[in-house]
Amino acid sequence: MLPGRHLLNVSLLVATALLGVQFVGAASPAGLQPLLIMTAIACLLGIHLVAAIGGADMPVVISMLNSYSGWAAAAAGFMLNNDLLIITGALVGSSGAILSYIMCKAMNRSFISVILGGFGAEGGKAPAKGSEQAPVGEATATTVAETVEMLRNARSVIIAPGYGMAVAQAQHAVADITRILRDRGVNVRFGIHPVAGRLPGHMNVLLAEASVPYDIVLEMDEINEDFEKTDVVLVIGANDTVNPSALEDPNSPIAGMPVLEVWHAEQVIVLKRSMASGYAGVDNPLFYKENTAMLFGDARQNVDAIRGALVQAESPAMAMA
Ligand code: TAP
Repeated sequence: MLPGRHLLNVSLLVATALLGVQFVGAASPAGLQPLLIMTAIACLLGIHLVAAIGGADMPVVISMLNSYSGWAAAAAGFMLNNDLLIITGALVGSSGAILSYIMCKAMNRSFISVILGGFGAEGGKAPAKGSEQAPVGEATATTVAETVEMLRNARSVIIAPGYGMAVAQAQHAVADITRILRDRGVNVRFGIHPVAGRLPGHMNVLLAEASVPYDIVLEMDEINEDFEKTDVVLVIGANDTVNPSALEDPNSPIAGMPVLEVWHAEQVIVLKRSMASGYAGVDNPLFYKENTAMLFGDARQNVDAIRGALVQAESPAMAMA
């Protein structure tokens, strides 16, 4: 981020407008020079605008750039008097804008603040360990055997998947666990945060690919009130989307973002490799709560191990075969 970047952006925009006036007024081929300078400025402005935007805002930026390209095509359509270009450009532009708006709303970020950038630099920093805002206490580690025991004793289970499940490609094993538990009569459902993963609908696509029934995959708003009536929550590779500091700490960079309130459940088990933060770079007090246990390791390996142990427990003879 360069100092005085907003001023720099405005200056580049003003320079473009002035060159535009010069271009329109100039006779050919004298107009070529301002056009080439405008092109160079547009490249610089593009790089400078996007470079300042970081972290969790990047997928929004991609969809916004997509939207810009549509508006540019529509503008070209007006210049060339081409109806098809105007219509397709408007479609791309408006769908990109709607998608960006939905993502911003789910992250509780304003459209303007995303475009202007600086997430995590001006809105507050991730609390360092030992600072006043850093979560206090010890995280409790658990094992696959304990997790299986808890799952087998539960009547209701909610699975909150996140980016880590996608990276580990654990969805098929998760679907198998779901099937085994449902066969036991356990009420298993999925809680999907609107920005879990890195793309809108990321988790829904993965779960559909693994043939998880649609009717047990619920949106955050549909399931958030049910956590307190839930015995076990499995958080698989999710972090920011289950971070209580979004609701409890007004200084948190993700303050105000609606999250899955998993900590209201009787027992929470978090599957991830370490205590590292998620995409937004924010420490997560959930890991230190009394009813939370950490199952460290690659999500795929742990979920596979849970599936194996569940199969063995359900029908030992079949598992040996
Ligand atoms: P994140 O907060 O990014 O956390 C993912 C966690 O997965 C990490 O803490 C990581 O911890 C763990 N992980 C990574 N690889 C793993 C593996 N192989 N096995 C087990 N765990 C693994 O994920 P989230 O909760 O899904 O949140 C999404 C983030 O992306 C939010 O900040 C959101 O704002 C942002 N975002 C999303 C979107 C859309 S549309 N989805 C758009 C814009 C921004 P370890 O390293 O300790 O394993």
